[in-house]
Parts: sequence; C-alpha cells; structure tokens
Amino acid sequence: MTPVTPIGGPTPLLELSNVSKEFAVHDAGKRATLSAVNQVSLSVKPGTTMGVVGESGCGKSTLARLIVGLHGMTGGEMSFDGAPLPKSGKRPAHVVKQMQMVFQDPSSALNPRATVGESIGFPLSVQGASRKVIAQRVTQVINDVGLPANYAGNYPHQLSGGQRQRVNIARALALQPKLIVLDEAVSALDKSIQAQVLNLLKDLQEEYKLTYVFISHDLNVVEYMSDEVTVMYLGQVVERSPADRLYENPQHPYSRLLLSSIPSLNPAESTRDTAMDQGSGEIPSPINPPSGCRFRTRCPFAMEICATESPQQVHAEPGHAVACHLFEEGVPQEVSLARSA
Ligand SMILES: Nc1ncnc2c1ncn2[C@@H]1O[C@H](COP(=O)(O)OP(=O)(O)O)[C@@H](O)[C@H]1O
Ligand SMILES: [Mg+2]
Repeated sequence: MTPVTPIGGPTPLLELSNVSKEFAVHDAGKRATLSAVNQVSLSVKPGTTMGVVGESGCGKSTLARLIVGLHGMTGGEMSFDGAPLPKSGKRPAHVVKQMQMVFQDPSSALNPRATVGESIGFPLSVQGASRKVIAQRVTQVINDVGLPANYAGNYPHQLSGGQRQRVNIARALALQPKLIVLDEAVSALDKSIQAQVLNLLKDLQEEYKLTYVFISHDLNVVEYMSDEVTVMYLGQVVERSPADRLYENPQHPYSRLLLSSIPSLNPAESTRDTAMDQGSGEIPSPINPPSGCRFRTRCPFAMEICATESPQQVHAEPGHAVACHLFEEGVPQEVSLARSA
C-alpha cells in the first residue's frame, strides 16, 4: 500500500487562528483600546521560514511576543506542534523550551555584567541542567554560531554588534528549540554584518531543522530569508504568499506600495511603479482604526464597500491569499488587476 500523504503537506509547527491583542491604554486622558494585532491567522510548516513584514507600528513585535507567550491573547487560538496553547498565563515547560526569541538590539538583550558563557548558560540553569551539561552545551553553541571557544569568558562590551547578536542566537539555541522568533534580529547591524548573520541563520536552520518566524520592516532581508511571507498593516494580515510570488506578483495595494518603496540596486528597475506614491501617507492610529479595511484611508483604489466591510482573504493563486475588496468574488480578476496596476 502506498502511504497516504496528508493534504496540504506536513502538520504546521505553529498555527495562529484569528489571534488578536488589544491593549488598554489612555488616550487624551480617556481609557481606550489599542488594537495592536487583529485576527491574525498564519501557519508555519516545520523547517521553514515565515517572514512577517510591515511598517513600524503594524504589530510585528506584538505578534512575536504573542507567539512566544510574553503576551496573552485577547482573542483567537494558537497551537504549537499540534497542541493548543493556553490563551494566556503559564505554558507547559516543554513548549517554553521549544520556542525561543531573538530581539533587535543585541546589547540590551544581554546582561552587561554576565560573561557570554553565563548568558548562554542561563536558560539551561533555569531548566536545572548540571554544570557539566551547561559547559558542554555552551561550548557547542558558541562553536555553532561561529565564535571562538574562548569568547565564553568575554563580557558583552568586549564584542562587536554582530558578535553580540551571535551570542543572542547561541543563547536561543541553547535549549535546542524547534522554533525561533527573530524580531528585527539583524536590523541594528551594518549591511555586511547583516549578510553574515543571515547566512549563519540559514546554516543553523539547515543543520538543526529549525523553524523561523522572521520579522522585519526590511523587505529585502525578508525576501532573502523566507519561504512564505505575511504582510501586515495596522495589526492585520493583508496578504500572505510564497515569498517568490509576493515579490514577483504582489496583489494587495499595500504590498505594492511597500514593494515600490524598496530601493532597487538594479538600474534597469530604477523606475518602479510609482502609481502608489499617491497612496502613501500617515499611518492611522490603532486606537480607533479605520472601519472596514484598515488600509482604505491610504488606498488609491478605495471603494464604498471598503469603509463598511472588512475584506476576507481570497486566493489570488494557490497558497497566495489577499484580503482586499478588489479581489473579492464578483470583481473579475482582469478588472481588479487593471484597477490596481
Ligand atoms: N505594551 C503595550 N501597551 C500599549 N500599546 C502597545 C504595547 N506594545 C505595543 N503597543 C502598540 O501596539 C502597536 C504595535 O506595536 P508593535 O507591535 O511594537 O509594532 P512593530 O513591531 O510592527 O513596530 C503600536 O501602536 C504600539 O504603540
Ligand atoms: Mg517591532
């Protein structure tokens, strides 16, 4: 008998279904609700990288913190390795171990008074590992991230930004996680160092079959790293797609706006479509976000329906979904594409 392959490939390692996070805030002296992440659904297959991209303030870091459990969800569901996670509060110890996070700022994430070895060993000692196990693991991961073994005795101030970020990656690896959430992990580094750290992440992924959620405002690094990409705008997912298709064939007006603002290194491409320039402008506040489609106030193609109804995700092509009324049933593809071309 031939084995049955499950439809849609392997079970996702991480699955989010309509996940939301609202913060209670004060706005002009009054209590208000800030909708930082709204009904986000995504699913990440084991061993792959899900890129998350969008402008500053669109909810990327909040999403990262929701995934690793630093924030509780105010709505929706999340599952890891096939098992549902609690909405908030303590997670099972094995889950905590298997999900790690690397933050943007390589210095503030490290204790300045702890040596590299102590910082990397800390999560292991919290787990109750013996001194010997800790020492072996620290040596292993320092080697894995391409630092010399004697760096274990150094302090963060003795290292460059790139080396410090390697230490943070080593610390994330220490507990042999399945998933690493990288939130702007290379954004503070110089371009040449960025490339080295990105390549290191790719090598580690291959070697340890790691799954990444790779978050960045930088479309170029997201393209380089990701198998699939989720585009966020003001807390919501506007488009998700295999990475190559998003960059070749972006659908949502916001994705087009983002892509048109990537500086191209290729002179032949220097005249990128600027039709979207008129659509740029201030990002509205996530306190009282626009009704209907949250992008409508910046969208040059906004229609009446956009103010009254939230667009549902529709498939532009297999695996490529877009949440925009231009693409909804009843609007022929040619028409919608012509309108947004
Ligand atoms: N702890 C918090 N309390 C209140 N508002 C927050 C908190 N964390 C984030 N926000 C707000 O949520 C929105 C999304 O922020 P964030 O997730 O940091 O976005 P990004 O990482 O994409 O720049 C912003 O408007 C931010 O001010
Ligand atoms: Mg952020």
